[in-house]
Amino acid sequence: MHKGKGMKFVGDSRITTDRKPNVPKDYSEYPGRTEAFWPNFLLKEWLVGAVFLVGFLCLTLAHPSPLEGMADPTNASYIPLPDWYFLFLYELLKYEFASQNYILMGILVLPGIAFGALLLAPFLDNGPGRRPHQRPISVGMMLLALASVIWLTYESAANVDWESRAEANKPIPPGEQAEIDTEHAGYAVYENSCLSCHGDNLQGGGAGPSLIGIDKSAEEIATIAKEGIGSMPPDQFAGTDEELEQLVDFIVSVNEQSEE
Ligand code: HEC
Repeated sequence: MHKGKGMKFVGDSRITTDRKPNVPKDYSEYPGRTEAFWPNFLLKEWLVGAVFLVGFLCLTLAHPSPLEGMADPTNASYIPLPDWYFLFLYELLKYEFASQNYILMGILVLPGIAFGALLLAPFLDNGPGRRPHQRPISVGMMLLALASVIWLTYESAANVDWESRAEANKPIPPGEQAEIDTEHAGYAVYENSCLSCHGDNLQGGGAGPSLIGIDKSAEEIATIAKEGIGSMPPDQFAGTDEELEQLVDFIVSVNEQSEE
């Protein structure tokens, strides 16, 4: 007997009144496969997928990739790092068997095996049971993948000094950036002798500190340019006295301007 017999709901003309309910076929003659793929199985898969996706989104929101300083093409000592969710791949490429001569191993073969295994997953271990211990190959592969990703991520993150890295790569707020007069006669000298360490905006870089807001007189700067200071090697400047004067004048003018 039909439910609601004697009654017909005809609110939507696109739905035929004699439409059958979406009851899956009877699969009981295929032992172990007792579920309709569409929509029952797919719906469950999709739900699980959605839960993971939302979880990942929450994680990336809670730990956004840090905003670093302005990209500086002259800074050769900067080590770019991928965001945390790719750190494991980054770490993989540090191993000898996955780098240098074996780089194809790291970028093609190993990831290829991982994704290939995903593709093969439905064909491996396709016995009737659905409990984990009845699917040893799939479960084993999944645990192995999970363990390697977690381990590699941990290895990669543990070797980075995140605090000093963040300190060294602080974004420069636009207001604090000095206006650099590249037309200044001293700029060309600076560009040749000092830019590689002190950055193209005097903001400092991997090898040298910022030259903005320094507490040094023109004479001191000239001396430093010739003789170095602390960990700055001497003889960075090799030119005429006139060029040295222009260079110092340039650095001083940038400093005066930044004090305003
Ligand atoms: C090889 C990299 C390198 C080059 C090239 C270089 N410097 Fe330096 N400079 C440094 C380092 C490192 C320091 C920090 C020294 C210290 O305090 O131990 C420094 C410090 C300075 C200081 C002192 C900053 C302060 O806070 O008091 C001045 C001024 C300076 N450099 C000017 C120059 C000038 C001018 C040139 C170009 C002629 C130049 N530097 C080229 C690496 C460099």
